[in-house]
This record gives sequence, C-alpha cells and structure tokens, in this order.
Amino acid sequence: MDKTWLNGLAAIVQEAGRLVEDIARQGFDTQFKNPEARRDPVTTADLACDAFLKERLLHLLPEAGWLSEETKDRPDRLGKRWVWIVDPIDGTREFVRRIPEYAVSVALAQDGEPRAGVLVNPATGDVFYGAVGLGAWRNGTPMACSRARGERLTILGSRSEINRGEFEPFADVLDVRAVGSIAYKLALVAAGEADGTFSLGPKHEWDIAAGVALVLAAGGRVHDGASRPFRFNQPDTLTHGIVAATPEAYGDLASLLRRHAPKRG
Ligand code: IPD
Ligand code: CA
Ligand code: CA
Ligand code: CA
Repeated sequence: MDKTWLNGLAAIVQEAGRLVEDIARQGFDTQFKNPEARRDPVTTADLACDAFLKERLLHLLPEAGWLSEETKDRPDRLGKRWVWIVDPIDGTREFVRRIPEYAVSVALAQDGEPRAGVLVNPATGDVFYGAVGLGAWRNGTPMACSRARGERLTILGSRSEINRGEFEPFADVLDVRAVGSIAYKLALVAAGEADGTFSLGPKHEWDIAAGVALVLAAGGRVHDGASRPFRFNQPDTLTHGIVAATPEAYGDLASLLRRHAPKRG
C-alpha cells in the first residue's frame, strides 16, 4: 500500500460522500431496524452508499472480504487476509436530522490489524485518510494526532452519553464537546482537534475500524475497554469500549477512566 493507492481509495470514499449528499438533496426514505422503539434508522442513502462502496472497493481489491453494517454478514470474510470494514453512514440519526456530523467510514484490515482508514464527512466535504506506517492526511495536508496539553482535557462525547450523565464523574477534569458519529469523533481526534474521545458502551467493528486506523496512522493511541489493541474481522463484530487520545493525553485519560468509570451492565 503506497500513497498513490491510498489517494485512489480516498477518491472512491469522497465519491460515496457526494452520492450521500445528492440523495439528501433529492429526498430519502427512512425505516427503523427497531420499529417499536423507532431506534436505529436506516435510509435509502445508507443502502445506496453501501452498494456503491461494495462494488468499487471489491473491484479495487478483489481478494478482500467484506463486512458492512448494511450488508448481510457472510462468514467467508473470516478466512480472508484482507477485509474491508465499512459503515456507509455512521451517524444516520444525525444524517436524518441534517446535523452535519455523520461520516462515510471505510477501513481495510490485514490479518485482523487495522491498516488503512478513510473517513468523509459528506456535509462538509472534509476527508481524512491514513495508513499505519505511511502517515495520515486531512484534505491533502498531513495531520498528526498531537496537541499541547492544557490544564483540562478536551474530550469528544456523544449527545446521548452526555445526556445520560456519563461524563459527570469527570466534570472537574474534562471539557466535553458533543459530536455525532463515533467514527467522526475518532477522525477529529486523529487530526489533533481534541485530546481524546472515549465510549464505554458496545460498538460494532464498522463503527470504529476506520477511526482506529486513522488515530494509529496519525501517531495517536487507541485501545478497547479492557486496554487491549483492537483486532478486527472477528466472528462477533461487537467490541466493548474504546479510548483514543493523543500521546500527550493518553496516559492521564486512561488512568482517569480506570479510577472513575461507572460499571455498566
Ligand atoms: C451509531 C453511531 C453512533 C454510536 C452508535 C452507533 P449508526 O452508528 O456510531 O455514534 O453512538 O452506537 O450505532 O447506526 O449511525 O451507523
Ligand atoms: Ca445503524
Ligand atoms: Ca455506525
Ligand atoms: Ca451506519
């Protein structure tokens, strides 16, 4: 994998982002995967983006397996060395409400390791891309997951986690900023826009794989809720907890979480 190949991958994901915005302008249908609770919306834009990326990415790397939120999972991906891990829209709730904090999120894993990540915010056109060992870029400019430490850490959190009071134990030490999609939060941390982000709840591999690759490619640190590095393309795609931060903030954030994190069922 070299820079030219990565640029080509980023161009495909940018095209997917434009497709999502075209559909947003034309109008889209929304259904709920959990209709009783009206939870987990999926729109015609999610499905069209999934189909577009599947065709283009499997053409780019035909030997790769495929794991996406909007494609029925096939176990043959488990036997593949390379796997695309895709969330066609991360933050569909924000997309439906036209809050510009959703992302098209594409990762490539090799033997379970995050290798490359591309994330596009279709509403702003911002594109983040990187590969571990090669570097990371935002809109063509190199980016680094690095920030001078202030007295308090600036952390990106989700609105629902903030509303549930999950950051209250840290009120004295953290400034928390609400951002929609977890993938987008990870990309912003990779770009050095915040000291870190964390989520203690379960996430699917497709929610975080591109963001994890971006943070690592940009020189940041990231682990799961049990302080382990992520391994992707697992049979059960649920992961538990994520902590990502700049090298400057990581130690303090990880020890804060060890001391204060509420126990979750
Ligand atoms: C959701 C987003 C959101 C996170 C949820 C995910 P979706 O993904 O990542 O930020 O808090 O846990 O389910 O359904 O919009 O792709
Ligand atoms: Ca979803
Ligand atoms: Ca998601
Ligand atoms: Ca999604």
